[in-house]
This record gives sequence, structure tokens and C-alpha cells, in this order.
Amino acid sequence: MRRLRQSKSVINLVQESHLSTNDLIQPLFLADQKDEAIEIPSLPSVYRFNETGLMKEIENLLKHGINAVALFPSIETGLKDSKGSYAFSEENFLYKSLMKIKQEFPDLVTIADVALDPYTDHGHDGLLKDGKVLNDETIEALITQSLCLTEAGATVLAPSDMMDGRIGAIRQALESNNFKETLILSYAAKFCSKFYGPFRDAVGSKSQLGNQDKSSYQINPANLNEALEEVALDINEGADMVMVKPGMPYLDVVSKVKDTFKVPTFVYQVSGEYAMLIAAIQKGWLPNEVMLESLQSFKRAGADAILSYASKSIAQELLHE
Ligand code: PBG
Repeated sequence: MRRLRQSKSVINLVQESHLSTNDLIQPLFLADQKDEAIEIPSLPSVYRFNETGLMKEIENLLKHGINAVALFPSIETGLKDSKGSYAFSEENFLYKSLMKIKQEFPDLVTIADVALDPYTDHGHDGLLKDGKVLNDETIEALITQSLCLTEAGATVLAPSDMMDGRIGAIRQALESNNFKETLILSYAAKFCSKFYGPFRDAVGSKSQLGNQDKSSYQINPANLNEALEEVALDINEGADMVMVKPGMPYLDVVSKVKDTFKVPTFVYQVSGEYAMLIAAIQKGWLPNEVMLESLQSFKRAGADAILSYASKSIAQELLHE
């Protein structure tokens, strides 16, 4: 075996999987705020942008060869209520920003999260009644949110809520409103993970959620077959792409999903994974290169595209390789 490892040139020739900037998606947080960019404490080098900051950042990303972003709004507490009403408001700054992006960067792929958690005062992705998250009523709300996002110009809808049947319902609503081109990236295999903490800080849903969890809709981390069944359902209901989330602790799921269904399979290196690597790098306990290695591993496992908070810095490294 070592003949194949005798020099960097030979090693490169026989490399089996490749990571490129085409594979990278940058998640971006936006807020209605005065400052152009405010760093998120539990996500070093990740910022909440206002619209001006957002436009500058997108320009920057395009220069780095990144052509896809996932947008997450951070909503001030005063605008949250039990139904997540601000998600359907014409005043919503996310919709305004989407329109502006569409005008200024028509070729950028914008991925918009479909879920109510940034908007609800209880922090759940769906509507709540007597302590339970309602499935079908939530789907009605998600359809409205999906149409708002599509009208504002989102290229891809990414339902991250894990209600049953929402992909089919959203697809049907898109068809009957003549949105024939809108893509659906389903968070199909989304686990009930503890790695989402810093994200919940970033969108301000952590204190809302308190000590409740999302185990009545997100998948038990111990289950693989259930994840495959979720993916099968979402493909049948009309998803164009499916996602596994989190990433690194779930590489077996990524691999199995890609092997089984052979559809575009995305993976989300979530906030806690990023925070953990960055913290160790900042302490000097791990070298910088662990970030690249972690993304490379997603490609090896079969992922087609990767959402990572490190996308921009990795793109920079790839450009100079
Ligand atoms: C919620 C949503 C979450 C993330 C993306 N969309 C968190 C959750 O389910 O609570 C997590 C992303 C991350 O941790 O980076 N709709």
C-alpha cells in the first residue's frame, strides 16, 4: 500500500474524493439591527448581519467561489408569539432581504429554512397546544411560510421542522401556485441532537425553549432505520434533495442514505460541531486542519454538498491550495 503514498503527487493522483467550493454552503444569520455585523459569542467568526452587512458578506462569499447560502433570521423577542405570526408578516425583514438578494445577486442559490422556531415565543418549530406540538395545523402554517419565502425569491425551501407529511403538502402548494421551479431540500434525517445549542443562541430560541426538547418530532440519535424511512417518505413526497443533520456524529447515516437512495444528499455540520472544533483550535489543542479534514470526511461518506459555518474559511484555503 505504501507505494501509493510515496509522494504528495502520487497521493494526489489516487485521491478518491474531492472537496471543492462548489460543494460548500454558507449559513448566514441576519437580524434587524443597526450594526452591520455582530459576532455570535458561542460561534466564533460567525456573525449576525443586518441587510448592508449581509450584502457585503455575500459579495465576499461569491469572490471565494461560494454560490449558495442558507439564511436564518434572528427575531427580537418582542416580535415573537405563540403562533409565530411574524413569519407571515409583510414587514418581515427576511423577505425584504431575500428580494434584495434576488435583485443584486440573481445567480446566488438562497436556501430558506421552513420552520417556526425563530418566530415562536415557546421556541418550538411548530404550533403548540396543551404542551404538544401539533402536526397538521403546523403544516398549514408551514405552507404559508413556504409561499412567502418563495414569493420573496428563495431558490430552495428547506423544511427543518420534521412534521409528518409537510414535504408533500408544500410541494402541492408550490405546484398549485405555479412555482414549478422551487427546489425542496428536506431536512429529512434530522436528529434530536444536543449539538444545536449555539444555533439556538444565534436565533434566540434557546431561552424560549428552556429545558424542553424536540424529541416528539426530531429523530432519536440511536436510530438508523427510522432515518432511512424518513428519507424515503420525503423523496416520495417530492423532495429534490435530502439532508442529514448533524454531520460528524452521523456519517454512517450520510453514507447509508447516499448508498440507498442515490439522490442529492446534503449534510449539515451544525453549530455545536463547529464550536467544538473552533474551541479546540483556539486553545491550541488541535491544529486548524481538523476543519478541512471534517469536511473532507463528509465527501468520503457520500455527501454532495455541505452546510458548514467554516465554508468561507475553507473556501479560502481551497483557493490557495
Ligand atoms: C430549527 C433549526 C435548527 C438548526 C437549523 N434549523 C435547530 C433546532 O432544530 O433546534 C440547527 C443548526 C445548527 O445547530 O447549526 N428549525
